[in-house]
Amino acid sequence: MCKTTSKGSDSVRNKTYKKVTAYLVLQCILLLEAIILLSIEHKTKADIYENGEENFANQKNTLREEIENLETKKDGLQQENNNANKQKQQLKEEEKALLKHLHGMDGWMCYQSVFYYMSTETKNWTESKKDCEQRGASLMIINSKEEHKFFKSDANVWIGLTDKNEERKWKWVDGSELATGFSSWGPGEPNGLQGESCAASFSAELYDFSCSETFNWICERK
Ligand SMILES: *[C@@H]1O[C@H](CO)[C@@H](O)[C@H](O)[C@H]1NC(C)=O
Repeated sequence: MCKTTSKGSDSVRNKTYKKVTAYLVLQCILLLEAIILLSIEHKTKADIYENGEENFANQKNTLREEIENLETKKDGLQQENNNANKQKQQLKEEEKALLKHLHGMDGWMCYQSVFYYMSTETKNWTESKKDCEQRGASLMIINSKEEHKFFKSDANVWIGLTDKNEERKWKWVDGSELATGFSSWGPGEPNGLQGESCAASFSAELYDFSCSETFNWICERK
């Protein structure tokens, strides 16, 4: 009875051991599975991370290249801007010069592509000559009867003709001689000899006067 009991108890123990063993083996398998799953997951995550790192490095390089390109472009634009500013400055100066020139052309008129300026004040011949020179011009040199007639005036006006350097040798201010046969002297002119060495125009005729007389004057600029 006792043996039977003991046998019976052994068989129960055996059964229990088997169950425990089976349970432990199952647990082991489960743990193994869990470990495998976790390792796989870890590996996947590591791969993703590595890829991400690589992508990040690539993007960083691309961005750096873009920054370099942009900086080059910026330098180029800055250079262009500098050039444009320089040009602007130059244009401003040209505009100023043109305005000054235009302003200087106030009171000038054009006849057969030559510019003429009729003074509003009166000065002696020397000062009149100087005024024309300051305007980048000279006292008028009459080259034809037509030109003379165009400036027919009812008052004496100084022109660029004088015999100051050699009596009776009338010369224009550009050094050329009064054309022989130029018949535009007034009747009996020139009559002043030494005392009258500068010529003025009156009513499209020439008259000699003392150079210290003060008249209006005509400048011309070719
Ligand atoms: C012309 O006028 C200026 C200034 O008034 C004077 O200095 C000069 O002596 C004058 N010349 C003649 C030739 O009269």
